[in-house]
Amino acid sequence: MTHLWSGRFETAPDAEVFQFQASFGFDRRLFDDDVTGSLAWAEALAEAGVLSTTDGAAIRTALLEIRDRGRDAPNFVDGADEDVHAFVERQLIERVGDAGKRLHTGRSRNEQVSLDLRLYLRRRIPVLQRELVALVDALVGQAEAADSRLMPSYTHLRRAQPILVAHYFLAHASAVRRDHHRLEQARDETDALPLGSGAIAGTSYEIDTTALAQRLGFSRVVLNSLDATADRDFVSGFLHASAGVMVHLSRIAEDFILFTSEEFGFFDLADAVTTGSSLMPQKKNPDPLELVRGKTGRVIGHLTGWLTTMKGLASGYNKDLQEDKEAVFDAEETLRGSIRATTAVMRSLTLDADRTEAAASGLALATDVADLLVARGVPFREAHEVVGRMVRDLLATQRDFTALSREDWQRYHPQLDADTATRITAYGSVAARRTPQSTAPDAVASALREMCEWVGSQAVTEPGS
Ligand code: ARG
Repeated sequence: MTHLWSGRFETAPDAEVFQFQASFGFDRRLFDDDVTGSLAWAEALAEAGVLSTTDGAAIRTALLEIRDRGRDAPNFVDGADEDVHAFVERQLIERVGDAGKRLHTGRSRNEQVSLDLRLYLRRRIPVLQRELVALVDALVGQAEAADSRLMPSYTHLRRAQPILVAHYFLAHASAVRRDHHRLEQARDETDALPLGSGAIAGTSYEIDTTALAQRLGFSRVVLNSLDATADRDFVSGFLHASAGVMVHLSRIAEDFILFTSEEFGFFDLADAVTTGSSLMPQKKNPDPLELVRGKTGRVIGHLTGWLTTMKGLASGYNKDLQEDKEAVFDAEETLRGSIRATTAVMRSLTLDADRTEAAASGLALATDVADLLVARGVPFREAHEVVGRMVRDLLATQRDFTALSREDWQRYHPQLDADTATRITAYGSVAARRTPQSTAPDAVASALREMCEWVGSQAVTEPGS
């Protein structure tokens, strides 16, 4: 087999080394995008008068036929070619001979590979975004189902203050929504046409890059050919957004590994999303959540590995850049699987509200006692001190605020009267919150409405895959 560059060489490449540097094994995934780019390039060449109308038409017909075959039978995209670009060109030449040999005029694989990966991410990122919307929808579903039930919040994984269960689910939904936005920014970054850059210095044919950008759906053309062939910032952006998604999924996973354990017992995992033990009959393990947490390391690894690859590169194209694709493809697959597994787990959770509410009262109401004193004119620092003493005594006698008599309250502070005990409840605590981002039931209800609206708006406006 001859290669795209055989002419200069006296001997054929060493088979093992050739295989080592070839990328067709993985960049075949860019097949569709490579054909899309070539169709547009052929048109641009014809418009520039470089290709005759007949050659242009022959190339177009053949490329469409190649694309259809590849779509119908993915096994077709195979062979000993160096990469997907060489494969498509070989197929084209087999069909239309000399016309096919003219397609690469004024074009380099250096810009072609950047174009293909930009086109690929542009159509694949929305698929991931749709998965994120489904996850937010599942979290919203849990928030709705929890109604006004309570749970404790934690700082340092120690009980902090009561919150609505709905507030808890909306917290994760807010983080996932930021991920959606970050993916949108990553997609924006792909939105520049690199064609016209040639191998490095630009092309010497009259290519109308603005028209070409429009034809391929890009809103802009890259600024500099040297930068364009060396630039993979859009890959870094995608991997960063991907690592961000995984970090959030991992934190969700960690929460529910804990919350569904015998020790917490706040939620139960559906049988369908757990696995058993080969030895211990009683076990119901949260494997999908553990794997999501585990796979996070791998996606963060792709980001750090990729940035490390980039940092040492001299200007212009370097073959190291070929490493971008496996990182992108694996991150994409890992994300898709992880988001879907997390969504399935979230949809099937059941809340044990008796347990969460029992855990949401007791000493978790200490701040509310202090706030009550503040409302009665006591400086906060003094109130904190008083309630701290109460907590110390209650802990020593294994009791909480509900065990205190009228006299007990009074003994700690004259402003604490008989009325105090009835005011200090977990629900009273959440209802006392005043800010829009708080766990106050009204605030949570409007946050929930807003989140539902966002989910609805995404379903309507997102492009197809
Ligand atoms: N497979 C190559 C890559 O992924 C395509 C570009 C090859 N360019 C070159 N000058 N060898 O980067």
